[in-house]
Amino acid sequence: MISIRTGSDVPTTAVKCLWDKIEFARGRDPETIRLALDETDLFVHAWDGDRLVATTRVITDGAYYATLWDVIVDPDYQGQGIGTDVMRRAVEPFLGRGFSFIALYAADGKQGFYEKLGFDYHPRGMKIREDQWPYSQ
Ligand SMILES: CC(C)(COP(=O)(O)OP(=O)(O)OC[C@H]1O[C@@H](n2cnc3c(N)ncnc32)[C@H](O)[C@@H]1OP(=O)(O)O)[C@@H](O)C(=O)NCCC(=O)NCCS
Repeated sequence: MISIRTGSDVPTTAVKCLWDKIEFARGRDPETIRLALDETDLFVHAWDGDRLVATTRVITDGAYYATLWDVIVDPDYQGQGIGTDVMRRAVEPFLGRGFSFIALYAADGKQGFYEKLGFDYHPRGMKIREDQWPYSQ
């Protein structure tokens, strides 16, 4: 039985253990994970007993915009609807409140998962890495 919970009060070791299983989230240090969780507006997590099996994080201004990050389901638990459940817990609190944009950055090959949830592809997303910033000293 999977239980979905919210709140940042989750042991960093459990989060690191799960995130280290997924390439884009692998190798994050515990102190920085703690900082990220403490600054997250809505942290949604799924548990099988005392095993953390999925996360989603929402960062929002509470009025216009919300972005979702670290949508991660343990490979042993994928394909069971848990990703959908954590996404619902992450998105539904922001529906009906006049938000202009609820957005995320889909990893390669994952667009279909988000399309099933109703997300549209957005062709004008842009991002920058620190070392691309033209004004650095
Ligand atoms: C992407 C991910 C979160 C999906 O979680 P999940 O629990 O396996 O997904 P669900 O079981 O809720 O699947 C819901 C539906 O999406 C479909 N789906 C899942 N992954 C898909 C994909 N990559 N492409 C297309 N459809 C996909 C499922 O087949 C299912 O369809 P159905 O409702 O017709 O049966 C999970 O595979 C994962 O954590 N992957 C590794 C980390 C990652 O890349 N996360 C995304 C970061 S942007």
